Amino acid sequence: MSHVGGHTEFLQAVDSPTAWRAAVLLLVCLQLHRPSPVHAAVTSSRGSYRAGGCICAADIFSCTTLTLRHVPGEMPVSTVTLDLSHNHITQLEDGAFQGLLQLETLRLAHNQLTAIMPGAFRNSSGAQLRNMDLSSNHLCVLEEHYFQELSGLEELLLFNNRISRVEGRPLAGLTNLRKAYLSHNRLTDFPFFSIQKHSHPHLSLLDLSSNRLSKLPLEDILALPHSLQKGLYLHNNSLWCECPMYSLFRSWEQQEFESLLFFRQEHVCLVYGNPRGTVRFLQHGRYLEKCNLSAVTQKRSVTVTAGKALLLHCATTLSGHAITFLWVSPSLESVLPPGNNGSLKMFSNGSLEIMAAREKDTGIYWCLAEDRQHHRNDTWEVNVTVLADSNDPQEPFNTGFTTLLGCVVSLVLVLMYLYLTPCRCPPCLKAPPPATATPSLGNEAGAGSAQSSILTPTPPASTEGPGRKVIPKLYGR
Ligand SMILES: *[C@@H]1O[C@H](CO)[C@@H](O)[C@H](O)[C@H]1NC(C)=O
Ligand SMILES: *[C@@H]1O[C@H](CO)[C@@H](O)[C@H](O)[C@H]1NC(C)=O
Ligand SMILES: *[C@@H]1O[C@H](CO)[C@@H](O)[C@H](O)[C@H]1NC(C)=O
Ligand SMILES: *[C@@H]1O[C@H](CO)[C@@H](O)[C@H](O)[C@H]1NC(C)=O
Ligand SMILES: *[C@@H]1O[C@H](CO)[C@@H](O)[C@H](O)[C@H]1NC(C)=O
Ligand SMILES: *[C@@H]1O[C@H](CO)[C@@H](O)[C@H](O)[C@H]1NC(C)=O
Ligand SMILES: *[C@@H]1O[C@H](CO)[C@@H](O)[C@H](O)[C@H]1NC(C)=O
Repeated sequence: MSHVGGHTEFLQAVDSPTAWRAAVLLLVCLQLHRPSPVHAAVTSSRGSYRAGGCICAADIFSCTTLTLRHVPGEMPVSTVTLDLSHNHITQLEDGAFQGLLQLETLRLAHNQLTAIMPGAFRNSSGAQLRNMDLSSNHLCVLEEHYFQELSGLEELLLFNNRISRVEGRPLAGLTNLRKAYLSHNRLTDFPFFSIQKHSHPHLSLLDLSSNRLSKLPLEDILALPHSLQKGLYLHNNSLWCECPMYSLFRSWEQQEFESLLFFRQEHVCLVYGNPRGTVRFLQHGRYLEKCNLSAVTQKRSVTVTAGKALLLHCATTLSGHAITFLWVSPSLESVLPPGNNGSLKMFSNGSLEIMAAREKDTGIYWCLAEDRQHHRNDTWEVNVTVLADSNDPQEPFNTGFTTLLGCVVSLVLVLMYLYLTPCRCPPCLKAPPPATATPSLGNEAGAGSAQSSILTPTPPASTEGPGRKVIPKLYGR
C-alpha cells in the first residue's frame, strides 16, 4: 500500500487537469482486488510480476514475456484486455480470473497451457468475454467444459496447439461464436454435426487447415449453413483422394469461396491414403479428373416415391475399362450386370437402376468397384428411402395445386373479412370471428391464422427468442 501512497504524493505536486486524470486512472489500475484463498499461494509471484514489469494502460493489463508460471493473483478489476502472452503458464486454474468482471479480451498465446481447469472462468466476466487467444500452446484435447461459462465468445484462437481430439461438444454453448481457428493441430476428425444452422447462427469462419483429417463427413459438411461452408478452411490435411471429396471442393471453387481462391495450391490429397502419394488436387487434378462430377454430386442418401425408377451411380475413384462393379442390395442380394432379371437393372459402367421402387427396397445399397489390372478396389454406399405410394400418380402437382388453392381462398376470405365487414372501431378486428365469418367452418381457422400472421409480423423473432434463451439453460445443467 505504501506504493500507492507514494504515487499520490507525487501527483499532488503536479497541478494540472491532465495529471489529475492520469492520477485517477492510475489509482483505478492499482486498485487491486480481493486476496482469495486460491490466490494466496499464487500471490507469492506478486512481487515478481509487478517488479517484472506488468503494464497497466487504462483498461489494458499487460504482462507479456515475464516467464510467469501462473496467472497473476492480483489484477486490476478494471481490466478489459488482459495480455499474458509469451509466458510459461501451464494451466488455467479454478477461479484464475475471479473478480475481472470487465474482461472482454484474453490473450494467452505462446504459453505452455496443457489444460483449462473446470471453473477457470468462475466469477469473472463470463458471457462478456468476447475474444480469447489460446494459440501456440500445448493443449492436446479440447474438453467439453473448456468454454462452458463463455457463451459470449466471438473469436476463439486455438491454432498451433497439439489438439488431436475434441471431446463431446466444447463449442456447443458458444452461440455467439463468429470465428474459430483450429489450424496447425493434430485433429483426425472434427464433430461437424455439433455445429448447425441454429446452434451457431453467426459462425462464418472455421479454420481446420493443416491438421490430419483423412475423411470428411460430407453429409455433415453439406448440412452446414452456406455461410459457414463459405468460411470453412480444410487445406493441407491428409485427405484421401476420392471423387466425392473432390467434387465438394470443385463445387466450392466454382462458387469462388475464399478458402479455395487463396489456398488453392495447399489443397492436397493422398492417393490411396499414402503420404508419399500427395497430390495438389485442384492444381494438378489429373488423378481425379476422371471423376464424373455430375455422377458423384449425387447424394449419399436418396428419397424416391414408390413406383418410380431410380438410378444409382457407383461413384468411386476408380475408372477405366477394366473395372468391374458389384452391388449388394439391402435384401443382401448381390447384383451384377445386366441385373437380376426383375426389379434391378445394372449397367456395365456400374450404374444400378431400380426399375420401380417398392417400400421394401428401402435401405443401404453398397457398391464395390474392382480394378483387377491394378489390384485396387473402392466402395460406395447410397441410403435409399422409398416413400409410400399415394393413390394419385400425379401427387406432387396436386399437392402444389391444393396448397395454392388453399392460399387463394384464405386470402380472399381475409380480404372479405377486412373490407366487407362493417367495422367502425378497432376492437372489431380482435372480436372472435363466428359472428361475421362465412358459413364455411373449415376455412375459418385458416383465415384467422392467415390474418393474424399478416397483422403481426413477429413470428420469426419469437422463434429465435426462445432458442437463444434455452441454450444457456442447457449448458447450465
Ligand atoms: C463465485 O461463484 C460461486 C459459484 O460459482 C458463488 O457461489 C460465489 O458466491 C461467487 N463469489 C463471488 C464473490 O461472486
Ligand atoms: C501443413 O501441415 C503440416 C503438418 O500438418 C505443417 O507442418 C506444415 O507447416 C503445413 N504447411 C503449411 C503451408 O501451412
Ligand atoms: C457423367 O454422368 C452423367 C449421368 O449422371 C452422364 O450423363 C455423363 O455422360 C457422364 N459423363 C462422363 C464423362 O462419363
Ligand atoms: C427372366 O424373367 C422372365 C419373365 O419375367 C422369365 O421367363 C425368365 O425365365 C427369367 N430368366 C431368368 C434367368 O431368371
Ligand atoms: C451408365 O449407363 C447408363 C445407361 O447407358 C446411364 O444411364 C448412366 O448415366 C451411366 N452412368 C454413368 C455414371 O455414366
Ligand atoms: C480390396 O482391396 C484391399 C487392398 O487394397 C484388399 O485387402 C481387399 O481384399 C480387397 N477386397 C476385395 C473384396 O477385393
Ligand atoms: C438412411 O436414411 C434415413 C432417412 O433419411 C435415415 O433415417 C436412416 O438412419 C439412414 N440410414 C443409415 C444407415 O444411415
